[in-house]
Amino acid sequence: MNNEGMSLGEMLNNSNSNDFIYEKINFINELEPGTFVEIQGKLISKRIQNTKDGKNFLLLTIADKTGSLRGIDWFNPEKNEKINLGDIIKIRGKIVVFDSRLQINIDKNTDAVEKVPYEDIEENKFLVESKLDSNQLINKLKKYIDMINIEELKNSLNTIFFDSNLSNSYKNSPAAMSIHHAYKHGLLEHSLSVLNISLKICENYDYNLNKDILIAGSLLHDIGKIKEYKITKSGIDKTDLGEMIGHMNIGITLLEPFLSTVNEDIKNHIYHIILSHHGEIEYGSPVLPKTMEAMIIHFADNIDSKLVQIDQTIKDTINENPDSKWTNFEKRLGRKFKI
Ligand SMILES: [Fe+2]
Ligand SMILES: [Fe+2]
Repeated sequence: MNNEGMSLGEMLNNSNSNDFIYEKINFINELEPGTFVEIQGKLISKRIQNTKDGKNFLLLTIADKTGSLRGIDWFNPEKNEKINLGDIIKIRGKIVVFDSRLQINIDKNTDAVEKVPYEDIEENKFLVESKLDSNQLINKLKKYIDMINIEELKNSLNTIFFDSNLSNSYKNSPAAMSIHHAYKHGLLEHSLSVLNISLKICENYDYNLNKDILIAGSLLHDIGKIKEYKITKSGIDKTDLGEMIGHMNIGITLLEPFLSTVNEDIKNHIYHIILSHHGEIEYGSPVLPKTMEAMIIHFADNIDSKLVQIDQTIKDTINENPDSKWTNFEKRLGRKFKI
């Protein structure tokens, strides 16, 4: 059913009643128009708006690992606006097509939108996994570490990545909460991509660049993220440590016991890369990149995080509406993108 062109009165008359039996649907990408459903999702946006005649309604968006869904609540907007962003909620309502995409018209009952207690959140519903094969990623990691010439550095990296309390966390960790690589194995995927870009930049010049530093710096630049984020049933959360210390400082603390055999200059260069990789003081780096290798890793990090973000925005937009010519406004990058 299509609500386009309907007046508010018609929409309200057409709204759901609690006589319907709501079918529990697991994932957003399984929803069909015209059905009455109950679905769980993470609340990712909410906004009260009003009609010309002053009636309030709540527009919200929920998401799971398969996609996002807009909801409209004509009946209890003030009550439901109080739910926090990031909470997992359960919604009952009718699925319709509006503005060429699926929408849930939320039921009039006051319990049609409810926060789901943590113990009732379904496993594997919110955490996305990397689309790349994790074994292949790990093989690439091995291959890159083998390329290192400085023996002590190679040994330290082998211990960190394959034989320490950090190894598993590094391989499973996401690289962000929601912006880029916000999924299991995301940190490994991002670090390898930064390394690949860094080596390509290095090949373009005949400068005397230290490849060992580029390899170690790329692989370690975000290692603090293994303690900055945690994976929960509702997705990815920031830890208290991440909030208070941040991944650059956490990274230095984590690495200190593993780099004791490495030459002081090499170790400081790696720490410098970790602390400077955001490139500017206002982006959280306490020092600016002051070596060519640090500049390269900063640029490679920027390229990878931004391109992945744009790609995701384009995919999300096409998922919502395959005919879109432009993405939604991407707040962090301050623009829309042409599809
Ligand atoms: Fe970072
Ligand atoms: Fe990064």
